[in-house]
Amino acid sequence: MTHTVTLIPGDGIGPAITEATLQILTAAGAPIEWDRQEAGLTAAEHGHDLLPQETLDSIERNRFCLKGPLTTPIGAGFRSINVALRKHFDLYANVRPTKSIAPGGRYTDVDLVIVRENTEGLYAGIEHYIGMRQDPRAVAESVMLITRYGSDRIVRYAFEYALQHGRKKVTLVHKANILKYTQGLFLEVGQDVAKNYAGAIEFEDRIVDATAMQLVLDPYQFDVIVTENMFGDILSDQASGLVGGLGFAPGVNIGKDVAMFEAVHGSAPDIAGRNIANPTALLLAACLLLDHLGLVETGSRIRDAVKSVVHRGEKVTRDLGGTATTTEFADAVIREMKGDAEDV
Ligand code: NAI
Repeated sequence: MTHTVTLIPGDGIGPAITEATLQILTAAGAPIEWDRQEAGLTAAEHGHDLLPQETLDSIERNRFCLKGPLTTPIGAGFRSINVALRKHFDLYANVRPTKSIAPGGRYTDVDLVIVRENTEGLYAGIEHYIGMRQDPRAVAESVMLITRYGSDRIVRYAFEYALQHGRKKVTLVHKANILKYTQGLFLEVGQDVAKNYAGAIEFEDRIVDATAMQLVLDPYQFDVIVTENMFGDILSDQASGLVGGLGFAPGVNIGKDVAMFEAVHGSAPDIAGRNIANPTALLLAACLLLDHLGLVETGSRIRDAVKSVVHRGEKVTRDLGGTATTTEFADAVIREMKGDAEDV
């Protein structure tokens, strides 16, 4: 069976890492037909909206989307195209697995998943200035929006994820000791949801600052972390630092009807057009897509090949201390999958 998936190559390094990813998926025999669409700066340069209706229709139709990083032009009327996309499809769960691949780090076997609430908290975008005397911006205020509904569905998602993926423990991360209403509600709802999984999945809650320290001291104690929007954003970047940085950080944004797979990093305009970007994060996001499509074995083969190439260290990109181009790295992964890596 061939799956049709919306593909947005994106801006900056997006097209190059997307091509590398597609070549590897094709070589792995992934039965996917790509419905190519535009968004962001690329769409604007071609005279279209930043989020063209055709792109939204395609995602709605196909329900799965692989997306390269998008640049939001300054003054475009959007705070962020990525946030707009998440809002449009109500992609409430941002799942970011952190797994060791690169050798030489402090930890060799990190394997944890951060489930971040993606629509509420301080990132809901409710903020304003308050003028005083002659200063129209004397005070700035942001609202941390936490709802019972949003808290319930994200914690429930984390537990269901844990069950489906053979995980043992869910850690709810919060700051309820200080933010007693907002974070207090998140914690209270989470504790209620956890009761439904007692005996099946272990549950604990932790304060966010202590969690940040513990992640560095001993990441092995974590399995699935569920948290609100901004804490999840920060902790997932921190966690990616435990396994070699953003170059290895894939993510998926999940809603009731649509799932959007992407690298955590941005469009890296500083290295765009030079064929030196590391395509691994987008490739690992594509592997998450394969898992979702039930093509788990294909995803594993690609992950194993990436791991071997990165461990060998001969054909890695600059961010990993190598000199290989994006294309050379992709070729090495393909050769590894085909079993003639000794020629690399
Ligand atoms: P960035 O993640 O694009 O770049 C940060 C640093 O990491 C840069 O030095 C860059 O060269 C490097 N880097 C990132 N990805 C890399 C890769 N695959 N290989 C090698 N090096 C890599 O963050 P920045 O510069 O803050 O944002 C640039 C643009 O990307 C902005 O317009 C921002 O809005 C957008 N962005 C888009 C995201 C998305 O589409 N999900 C997420 C984050 C930012």
